[in-house]
Formats: sequence, structure tokens, C-alpha cells
Amino acid sequence: MSSLVQIPPYNEATKVYLVSESTLSQYLPLDLAKILKFTGRYGQVIVLAEKNEVYVGVTLTRKIKSVDVFSTVNTYQLGAKVVRALQSTEVSSLRVMNFAREMQNISQDISRYLLNFMLGMHQAAWMLDSYISKDRSLRKELNISVSIEDQVYITDNWQKELEALHAGITLTRRVVDDIPEEIHPESMSELIQKEFASHKNAVVKILQQYQLEQMGMGALLAVGRASRYNPVLTHVILKPKGVVKHRLALVGKGLTYDSGGLDVKVGGYMRTMKMDMGGSGLMLGVMKALSMMNLEHTEVHWMTGFVENMIDGSSYKSDDILTTMSGQTIEVLNTDAEGRLTLADVLTYATLQDPDYIIDAATLTGACVRAISEYATGLMGNDQELIDMLMEVFIEEQENTVHIPMSEVLRNEVEGEISDLRNIGKEPNAGHITAGLFLSYFVDQNCFRNESLGIKSPKAYPWVHLDIAGSAYNKQKNDLEANGATGQSVRSLVRFIQKLDQR
Ligand code: BES
Ligand code: ZN
Ligand code: ZN
Repeated sequence: MSSLVQIPPYNEATKVYLVSESTLSQYLPLDLAKILKFTGRYGQVIVLAEKNEVYVGVTLTRKIKSVDVFSTVNTYQLGAKVVRALQSTEVSSLRVMNFAREMQNISQDISRYLLNFMLGMHQAAWMLDSYISKDRSLRKELNISVSIEDQVYITDNWQKELEALHAGITLTRRVVDDIPEEIHPESMSELIQKEFASHKNAVVKILQQYQLEQMGMGALLAVGRASRYNPVLTHVILKPKGVVKHRLALVGKGLTYDSGGLDVKVGGYMRTMKMDMGGSGLMLGVMKALSMMNLEHTEVHWMTGFVENMIDGSSYKSDDILTTMSGQTIEVLNTDAEGRLTLADVLTYATLQDPDYIIDAATLTGACVRAISEYATGLMGNDQELIDMLMEVFIEEQENTVHIPMSEVLRNEVEGEISDLRNIGKEPNAGHITAGLFLSYFVDQNCFRNESLGIKSPKAYPWVHLDIAGSAYNKQKNDLEANGATGQSVRSLVRFIQKLDQR
């Protein structure tokens, strides 16, 4: 480095200042701000290397009338932007200087906004780097502190929550980003056992192929038949500290790879299908976070059928009619609409746990991505109260989610002629909704006709389906400005379960 440059004490933490348009002059000489074109507008970041300071703008003004509840000051995103600006530097020690002072006009919930700011910073510093050399990796372990005036927010509980959410989101992103040669039904069941083995409140059940056969999971088994890995159903139970007041079932789509099957994906559409276990990756992250948080009264079940949709002489075919565990039959009209087949059996299994609520997450349809973009999750369900509770937390956590009503007009689209159901709609329109309608038959036991299940008083379970085909995996423009797995919705689901636990 040139001796003409003064070198400040770089062993000190880089100071991070939040700045709004109205407070700009308190932090920066206005002529300097002008030269740097820094106004305090939302998302602007400047790095003053010689002062070892970073400034991030927080003033969000809309140019046009809008009611988008997700276009608000999002400190998770701001934290990520700060770290992105420092990505190619050696900086790994940060000190947040004035959080409450700048945020008090924006939110009442400073503590949570600060937590999300920290999370965004830590998450943006993470990337899957197991396949590149150390010197090319941009991953960092950050060391972040806050100024004295913000110390009040850093309670033990707060720190625990930050650690739990960071661990959960990182785990979700890691399994979704990692390659299908590493992430497959066998390795996922091992990973899950390892992850929860040491946890005294967790029970892990791994159901092998012969057990799935005994239970009659004809749809799940058919999808996985042409893979070199046997299908496996994983079931993790987290028990609360106190008496059980609420029971929740989480279900995640677990296609460790989706080649499309005999209806093979062509024209580049197979690329990124390592993320087709994104639903299970999301639920795994949620479970990981919850396991570090200790619930009081809520018992959480997570189940996933892990399979790989591949091609060989044993592949399942279009024209086949599969018999599900529920007894309902499904005509296959496209082997690429496989996720709903696996979910059919796993949702049926979930109802047998008799939970208060069922939530599934699945990278289910391209139609959902086309309808609401790759940034949003499509939320559908059969219970208004559950839909409302979940939409509320998604909005609070600012994780882009759109409620899509499941129109009954479309129900006959998935009803079969020589079978109970068909795995794609008769018309190609609104594929995300017909997929949601298809799933609804497997959370309402009134539709079941497998007598050997011994269901005496059939129940219709309150259920929400999250189509995360777009939001699980993004290019560039997500909250983390990352390419790949987003970890989106871990925060909201954890928050939902915490709220439920406190009811
Ligand atoms: N895994 C895909 C859905 C998907 C598409 C996820 C794009 C993420 C990004 C799913 O199994 C699938 O192939 N769905 C088909 C359904 C069709 C055959 C009715 C689709 O959406 O094209
Ligand atoms: Zn598919
Ligand atoms: Zn799929």
C-alpha cells in the first residue's frame, strides 16, 4: 500500500451507521454526501474505507401509490446489503452504532428489527463453499457488536433466538444449495438423525421402504422407484418442556432430484431441480431453530418422504393408476407432477398424528412462479383462521407471501374418470391452484376410503399449503441478494410456532 495513504487502526470493528434523509447531516458532511450521491434513501450503502465506516440508507419513499405490504423497511435485507458491500474485503468485525435512534420512527419493535438486521448480515456472509478453493470463497464468520445505547436489546433470550434462526436458515440454505450427489434420500435420513440425535426432546423415526409398503404408500413409492436410492420417510417430533397444549404437523416436499421422470424435463428446465427438496429443507431449518429454542406447550411433528424422480426400466408411467395410503386412487397423466403424489401419502400420514394444524411446503409448480414471481410464496388453505394467522406472520416478518384462494370452480379439474383423482388438471390453466386442490383430498379424512386405517370419526384438518417453487431458490434480487437457496420463510414459520406456543 502506498505510504501516501494514512492507515487507520483496521483491527478495530468497522462502524455501521443507519442514516435517513432527515438525519444525513448529523453523520456526514453534506458536501461529501453529495459527491458520493448518498442521500439516505433506502438500500443505499457507502463504504468510507479510510474512516472504517459504512453508511446504509433507511428512508423509503414510494414514487407511486401502492399498497404492497412487503415493500417496507426490511432490516434483514438492509443487513445483507451492508455485508454485500464489504464482501470482497477482509472486514469481518462490525459494530452497529445507532440502531434504535434511527429505527424508532420506523418500527415499534426495535428488538426484532435489530435481530433481523443481524441475521441478514450473518446470512449474507454465508455461502456454500465446499466446492471451491479457500481463496475464492467469499464466506465469512462475522463478529458483530452494537453500541452502548443499543445494548439493552441484547438479552440472553434475544441472543439465543438469533443463534437459533441463523443455524436454522443456514441449514436450510446448505441442504438446498448442495448437490444431488450429496443430498439424496439416504444421506438426508442420516443428516436428520445426526442433527437431532443429541437433542433430548427430539424423537427421530426413519421409516424404510418395506414399512412404506406395509402402510400402502403406493404414490410415494411409485415416484421413487427408478432411483438408486430407496424412498424413506423421516418423522421428527419435538416435545415441549411443559404439558402439550398444541400439536402441529409440518410436511415438506422432499424430491432430492426431479428429472421429471419419463416425462423428462427438457429445454434446460431440469437445471436447479436439486432444489426440489426445498420444502423439506425449509421445515428442517424450522425444526433446527425450534430445537435450539425450547417450546413450552407445542409438540411439533415434521415429516417428509424423501425420493428421487428418475428414469430406468422400473419408472412409473403416465396411464398408471396409483393407490395411495388413503385408499384414493390417482391416475398419472404426467410423471413430472410428482410432488403432489409424494405429498398425498405423507399428508395422509400426517392426519393420523391427529394434529391441530397441518402446514406443508413444497416447490410444487412452475405455474405458481409464473403467477406471482420467483420472489413470492403462494399460500393456499382450507381454514380461514389458519390462513389469517400465517399471513399475519409473513407480513410481520416481511417474507413475501401471497394468499391465493383455492377456487372450488376448479375442483373438477383434478377429479378422475376411471380413478378418484388425476395428477394434473384437465385444462393447463392455474396449475398452482389445481395442485393445491389435489392436496386438499389428503387432509380431509372424509375422502379416505382405506378401511384398514380404522378411522372412526373422520376429520377435516385445518391445513395450509405453501408453494415455494419460486421463493426457495432465487437469482440475485432476493433479500440476501444471493444466487441460490434463499432460506425464505424459516423466520415466519418459527415466529408462527412461537406465537402458537404462547397462546
Ligand atoms: N418441481 C417441479 C416444480 C418447479 C418448477 C419447482 C420450477 C421449482 C421451479 C414440479 O415437480 C413440476 O415439475 N411441476 C410441473 C407440473 C406440471 C407437469 C403439471 C410444472 O410446474 O411444470
Ligand atoms: Zn416435477
Ligand atoms: Zn418436483
